[in-house]
Amino acid sequence: MDDRIELVQSEALAAVSDAQDLDALQQVRIQYLGKKGSIQQLMSFMKSLSREEKPAFGQKVNLCKQTVTDAVEARQKELKAAALVKQMEEEKLDITLAGYDLEIGTVHPLMMIQQEIEDLFLGMGYKIAEGPEVEQDYYNFELANIPKDHPARDMQDTFYIDPNTLLRTHTTAMQMRELEKARGGLPIKLICPGKVYRRDDDDATHSHQFMQSEGLVVGEHITLADLKGTLEFMANKMFGEGRKIRFRPSYFPFTEPSVEVDVSCPFCNGRGCSVCKQTGWIEILGAGMVHPHVLEMNGFDPDKCSGFAFGVGLERVAMLKYGIDDIRNFYINDQRFLKTFDRFD
Ligand code: PHE
Repeated sequence: MDDRIELVQSEALAAVSDAQDLDALQQVRIQYLGKKGSIQQLMSFMKSLSREEKPAFGQKVNLCKQTVTDAVEARQKELKAAALVKQMEEEKLDITLAGYDLEIGTVHPLMMIQQEIEDLFLGMGYKIAEGPEVEQDYYNFELANIPKDHPARDMQDTFYIDPNTLLRTHTTAMQMRELEKARGGLPIKLICPGKVYRRDDDDATHSHQFMQSEGLVVGEHITLADLKGTLEFMANKMFGEGRKIRFRPSYFPFTEPSVEVDVSCPFCNGRGCSVCKQTGWIEILGAGMVHPHVLEMNGFDPDKCSGFAFGVGLERVAMLKYGIDDIRNFYINDQRFLKTFDRFD
């Protein structure tokens, strides 16, 4: 009988090690360890044994069962590991395959100019102020010394939302908010960059939405010379060393005197070229000394303080700096145009 157990065991162990995959091993398990399997069948011989023989026989069959079970489990581990290796080989990641380009955006050229202006003025101790694009007539016009029916309202064709609410036409509206907020407290030194809107037909040099930055300084003994020095510094930083600026008399209701400011042409160094229309100068902004009436309306005493203000168009600066000939480029989101600016980052 013992021989029979040994025979079954050695057959079973051989079958286990012959099994080449998990399915085959499962078949072997059923064949030997299943309810009707060969090892279970050995138990049926018990009936024919004497009482004394039964325990030893039972033990041997159990031992055989355990040995085969252990062998099946060990083989199962081996086969699983082999299956995993095979799977990994088959599914190998081919890192030589060309990947997809990750599209990364670039900073918009107008943002670059805004950041450049902000850095420049922060470095001179200015604050950066903000204000709403949907503005009240009061801040955009009234406090800026442009009452209703004033002819200067025609200078800026306005998008009205209702008779008292509009899309701000200039960053000067933020200047007025800041003056009002300061309640006569000195000094004031800030810039306010932001979007502005005018009812213009879009063409190569006009856009119904564009960007400006206002600059405002109010304190004791602030003069036109301070304005000139500040703008000269800005022109040199923005357009390269050696730029000169000049003032031409102009008119804005909120400044007195008012000036248009030209910078010596950065393309021909003032000699005259097609960009500056042979004049050697390019107009870049409007500016002036804050009108005494504006100071008064906002709670400042014009006998004790004075101030200068300027408003610079960011598109104009960007067009000059990067040689762009159509303002619409900034707003049509053509990736081919915008992508050319990554080299300036
Ligand atoms: N607000 C003026 C404009 O939009 C610019 C300006 C600002 C002029 C501040 C003088 C002082 O044209």
